[in-house]
Amino acid sequence: MSDFTGKSIWITGASSGIGAALARALAARGARLILSARSVDKLEAVRQSCSMPDEHLCLAMDLADQASIEAAWSQLQEMSREVEVLINNAGMTQRDRVTETRMEVYRLLQEVNFLAAVDLTKKVLPAMLERGAGQIVAVSSVMGKFASPQRSGYAAAKHALQGFMDALRSEVYDAGIRVLVASPGFVNTDVSRNALRGDGTLHGKMDPGQAKAISAENCAEQIIAAMAKGRAEVFPGGKERIGLLLNRLSPALLRRVMRKVRVD
Ligand SMILES: NC(=O)c1ccc[n+]([C@@H]2O[C@H](COP(=O)([O-])OP(=O)(O)OC[C@H]3O[C@@H](n4cnc5c(N)ncnc54)[C@H](OP(=O)(O)O)[C@@H]3O)[C@@H](O)[C@H]2O)c1
Repeated sequence: MSDFTGKSIWITGASSGIGAALARALAARGARLILSARSVDKLEAVRQSCSMPDEHLCLAMDLADQASIEAAWSQLQEMSREVEVLINNAGMTQRDRVTETRMEVYRLLQEVNFLAAVDLTKKVLPAMLERGAGQIVAVSSVMGKFASPQRSGYAAAKHALQGFMDALRSEVYDAGIRVLVASPGFVNTDVSRNALRGDGTLHGKMDPGQAKAISAENCAEQIIAAMAKGRAEVFPGGKERIGLLLNRLSPALLRRVMRKVRVD
């Protein structure tokens, strides 16, 4: 997958942040994109900002709504549009304690970050297996490897996504399909503004870690480099990625650090 020219790539969460940056960078490499998210106007603006905008398609879809996913998938099939690469990038995070987080918020975090990616992956996989080629990308998080306070539902969903993709990778490797899990640390996007409080309202704040983080463009370039090399994992981000190292070398120390983390 070192040449993206003419490749049909479906990107979820393409209306902002990392997804929009992936769209622009892949379009510049000649890919033909299917851009999905809920916000039709933002998707259209991203499409127009890409090279060769007429080659790309906006496909609105709410990943928390099964009927919306099915309608989008039917639309793609009616157009006989094949998907050579699926990038499961859409996601939303959380800022609240377990005691304050309603069950419907946990369910929503699972639907958007995990179950929707499973659904879309299962939809595109049969044709990839038939062609003997394809790539599935999941934009997870360092929170898919360890967990920090006030992100219990997000970390749980990203751990589930990691587990699913790890199992899938070994099932489809010999069939010529590559599975990449991208686990960014902090990236400067609206993800913290769009995070959910425990009652389902928006956190609405740019967190300091986010504001000082690497750009969405930098993150997208690292993901694309890993896609091109057929890598299994990539970890874009800054010094917060030390948590990954601590988790492997000294989990007890990481647990002590996490006990000191204050979010609000
Ligand atoms: N930024 C970071 O620091 C960071 C770190 C690690 C991992 N990540 C992951 O990176 C991915 C992209 O996040 P981002 O940082 O670019 O944040 P973002 O700017 O908030 O983008 C999130 C994207 O997901 C889409 N989305 C959210 N809920 C959706 C739903 N119900 N149905 C369909 N689309 C939905 C949003 O589009 P609409 O609102 O238009 O639907 C938007 O395009 C996420 O999976 C996130 O967990 C981010």
